[in-house]
Amino acid sequence: MSFCIRIVTSANDAPLCFEYQDGEQVLLADALSRAGLHQDRPCGGRGVCGKCIVRATGALTPMSDAEAAHLTKEQIQAGCRLACVARALGTLSIYYNTYHANMQGLTEGFFTNFLLSPPDSTQGTGLAVDIGTTTVAAYLYSLTDGKLLASLCRTNPQRAHGADVISRVDFAMHGGLDTLRDLIADCIDTAERDLCEMARSPAPRARVITGNTAMLHFLTASDPSPMAAAPFLIKRPFGERIVKDGVTTYLPRCISAFIGADITAALLASGLCHETGKTALLMDIGTNGEMALLHQGKLICCSTAAGPALEGAGISCGAMAVEGAIDRVDVRDGALHCHLIGKAQDIPAVGLCGTGLIDAVAALLEIEELDETGYMEEDADIGTCTLTRADIRQVQLAKAAIRAGLETLLHTAGITYDTIDEVALAGGFGSYLHPESCAAIGLIPKELVGKIRVLGNAAGSGAAMMLLSGEERAFSEQIAQNAEVIDLSTNPVFMQRYVDEMYF
Ligand code: FES
Repeated sequence: MSFCIRIVTSANDAPLCFEYQDGEQVLLADALSRAGLHQDRPCGGRGVCGKCIVRATGALTPMSDAEAAHLTKEQIQAGCRLACVARALGTLSIYYNTYHANMQGLTEGFFTNFLLSPPDSTQGTGLAVDIGTTTVAAYLYSLTDGKLLASLCRTNPQRAHGADVISRVDFAMHGGLDTLRDLIADCIDTAERDLCEMARSPAPRARVITGNTAMLHFLTASDPSPMAAAPFLIKRPFGERIVKDGVTTYLPRCISAFIGADITAALLASGLCHETGKTALLMDIGTNGEMALLHQGKLICCSTAAGPALEGAGISCGAMAVEGAIDRVDVRDGALHCHLIGKAQDIPAVGLCGTGLIDAVAALLEIEELDETGYMEEDADIGTCTLTRADIRQVQLAKAAIRAGLETLLHTAGITYDTIDEVALAGGFGSYLHPESCAAIGLIPKELVGKIRVLGNAAGSGAAMMLLSGEERAFSEQIAQNAEVIDLSTNPVFMQRYVDEMYF
């Protein structure tokens, strides 16, 4: 005997039905994954973040305490459950909101000039990929003339096993490495097929796949345990060329366990290392804040764990940058005004995404509902969302980590903000940030706001440069090898600044 799980999506697609054997207790999250719906699971499916809510009707396990703690009375009455906790016992229907799949992603990125000299093949097409912790950006190029033929951005399906690198490293070390490898390999293969279809071109002959150090370890199913414990020395820094079935895949060189090949690629695309005599800073702000300072021809880098708050996770009303999420908040006539991603502005918001969160905190400071210590008399309404005092604490921790990292970098180089000529912001999140709000909460010093240049997805552009130019590929290896890395975990300046920077 068997039973059926029916999955209905908000995109009005025909329901999908999957058969299971009687007696199987199927986790709702697994049923969604089987349907190719890789839901956002920031806590890695441990039932602690409450972000994997779906509506389900039919034969289900009884509501657990963990679920009841995360669901409102109205949600429980409407049949909402946590997908990583509730199990199907027999026939049922799951209703899934595909807003979660329509994420705002970024494929455009800044390029510095380079000469076309593809190192792997001069014919056909090549694929450049940037595996981000949150999104995967892929680009198809002509190797003959260097033209971009098609590009796309997808959610990283590994999010089902944690929003940040550390949760996924933990998952990998507990038997999940092959799962992570399969998910990302499948995502890249599908993206490649889709790009070829969009451009009506045959399969690529060469690939360059960049990403942070953990992402490249997952892709190659390499042991990520050096990223989990001091001294954080990785055995496989990459800079490797792998040939399989006539296709060459190049994995760029990482700088360290926490400063990955995506930063190498972003530095290459930014052109900062091509110039001498300039003092410039490259920042990629996300769950990790990676920073590289170029001063007097020397490159010093650091990485600081900001946690997932700035990307909307770990925040009670946090959301990814999806349709319906609040992405901008400003003050008009003393009141907060919210903007939602997408056309509809008069619907209840899905939540606050990272840029909306920073704006909201800046706006609360402006109207003095929040003070510089992070104190708020009561939780604040941001449109239809509520920002709690615990959420503010998460923002303080993230902001303090990034700003303290930056201060430590400057201290090591012996310079002040005045010396910096340019600040290059890399990464999708950095591209959507509102610099004034960042300065208002102290994430970026006010002195640097006027010096910001937004690079977009520079890691994707850097990967393309390595695909299309042998010289640039070789130069990227030099950049990574010559970089000096500061270990913030043992740095006394960082510790002190971290405490000071907790204030807004
Ligand atoms: S509670 Fe289900 S993913 Fe966190």
